[in-house]
Amino acid sequence: MRVIIADSPEAVARMGAEQCIRLLQDKPAAVLGLATGSTPIALYAHLIQRRQQGEVSFRQVRTFNLDEYIGIAPQHPQSYRSFMQKQLFDHIDILPENTHIPSGMGDPVAESRAYEDKIRSAGGIDLQILGLGRNGHIGFNEPTSSLSSRTRAKTLTQETIRDNSRFFSADEEQPHLAITMGIGTILDARKVMLLAAGAAKADAVKAMVEGPVSAMHPASALQMHPSALVIVDTEAASKLELIDYYRWVQSETLRVQGAYL
Ligand code: GLP
Repeated sequence: MRVIIADSPEAVARMGAEQCIRLLQDKPAAVLGLATGSTPIALYAHLIQRRQQGEVSFRQVRTFNLDEYIGIAPQHPQSYRSFMQKQLFDHIDILPENTHIPSGMGDPVAESRAYEDKIRSAGGIDLQILGLGRNGHIGFNEPTSSLSSRTRAKTLTQETIRDNSRFFSADEEQPHLAITMGIGTILDARKVMLLAAGAAKADAVKAMVEGPVSAMHPASALQMHPSALVIVDTEAASKLELIDYYRWVQSETLRVQGAYL
């Protein structure tokens, strides 16, 4: 696992976007795994800007989102489909039929199986973007999720429901269930890149990077991935025991390669 410590949340987004753009320049028909939550919004803004400047195209790109609420229709303003349209898809040259988000409306068992099949038919995910829940969840794989789980329905924890309540108005019913790629599905991606910023994520970052691999902290499963990149800001990195080592690796990488990544 490589840990990059960036100076600010903005720098986290910029570096994350750089990784995506490099991949798309090497492989214009790449398959991207996408995430929702507030963290990737700034990364998506960078991708939109770079698209507008003509530096990158999404014409051949296919995308698979991590998760969706169960019982929320795609056109609902709080659906992850609406989120992705607003934050990214509506502003880039991606073909609508190439964007995939699990459906929260059908039979979750059949939908989960079909989603796994679609990922497989697309040749697997080249780069999976991830955010991090305060309780260590990735996608909606809450603590005690099997580390080899596949796409399936999950019940959200009270903590996650509370954390996500900011997106719902008081009179709206907030979903308690979601359909999510499993941890095994995420680990199958050829590369994974997790972004986290802010002091509220510091404990979760420490457990992910330096804690034992445990279903109690789903993101710790990324320690088993051969090509995992974690980009965090100084606040999110503040509890890491080996922070000086990660910074040293970063400066050595800069010295040898001329760039952090
Ligand atoms: C949600 C999403 C996750 C995301 C997490 C953190 O629960 N399902 O994919 O990583 O929130 O979100 P934020 O970036 O807003 O802290």
